[in-house]
Amino acid sequence: MVTVHDVARHAGVSIATVSRALNDRSRVSAATRDRVLRIATELGYHPNDLARGLAGMATRTIALLLPDITNPFFPELVKGVQTVADERGHLLLMCHNADDEDKAIADLVLLRRKRVDGILLVAGTLPGVGVVAASAGIPTVVLDRRVPGLDADLVTVDHRAGARLGVEHLLGLGHRRIAYLTGPADVVSSQERSEGWREALVAAGVEPTPDLVVGGDFTEDGGYAAGRELLTRPAGITAVFAANDLGAIGLLRALTEAGLRVPDDVSVVGFDGVHLAAYTSPRLTTVAQPIFDLGRTAAELLLNRLAAAPAPGSEPQTLVLPTRLEIRNSTASYPLSCQV
Ligand code: RIB
Repeated sequence: MVTVHDVARHAGVSIATVSRALNDRSRVSAATRDRVLRIATELGYHPNDLARGLAGMATRTIALLLPDITNPFFPELVKGVQTVADERGHLLLMCHNADDEDKAIADLVLLRRKRVDGILLVAGTLPGVGVVAASAGIPTVVLDRRVPGLDADLVTVDHRAGARLGVEHLLGLGHRRIAYLTGPADVVSSQERSEGWREALVAAGVEPTPDLVVGGDFTEDGGYAAGRELLTRPAGITAVFAANDLGAIGLLRALTEAGLRVPDDVSVVGFDGVHLAAYTSPRLTTVAQPIFDLGRTAAELLLNRLAAAPAPGSEPQTLVLPTRLEIRNSTASYPLSCQV
């Protein structure tokens, strides 16, 4: 059987260089990598990652657990993760759980059996106790949504501050009756954005009354249904801050179907900055997250952790990336706007 020693001898490099060439493209020159890969292929060398896993060594496989692959936020996140996995010679497994905690736990059990080296986790709903237990012992970086009770590295944005940014934009335009279109009630990011909406209103002397809150679920359908419900309310709402872009897109349709003009009659702000939001009519003003960079940063953190084998007691890190307001055409000043 051809071994790594044979490849190293034929290529005239060390075993460590062969390993780097095969596993971590960022750490050898392109010429060396090409030579090692060519010789490995010619000799028929096939490293057996599963055997490595059984021997307690790294399998160079990581997994990303996602709650919703239909939301364009998540594919952009995957691109960031995949870029780093490719650069550093790791296979990326993607597990979609449709926000179902039991499915996430089942995936974690299987991933443990497959001996993945580490996990990137976008948690679904709260409290996620089962997820916390199932991921125990596997190096994990939590992405986007904090998981209460899970003592792990976290890469996220400040959802609350981002929401304040969106609401303050509307307040600055003169709006006072600003509704909040929520995400799922049991998802941390949605809850934190709700707090940001509330804080911004209170700071401006506006009472965040319950009639300003309308329930959504981070989907277009949920945003559409919420928009229809808002239209039945007597409150003179002049603007809506939506917990995410997909919800805002559904809302736009409900409002325009009812004959309202956005932004002349109602202003709308979304959250996420998905590419699609630049192509709605009107183009959606949104609180943009650095989605690709969230994925990239989380993958780098995980792989750095795996490479460094941190000393016992090393503290989990929280990395908070900035949001920014992307002002487009769905917001305008009030009282130029009419009321719903
Ligand atoms: O659109 C999906 C939402 O779920 C995003 O806003 C993301 O931050 C996540 O929590």
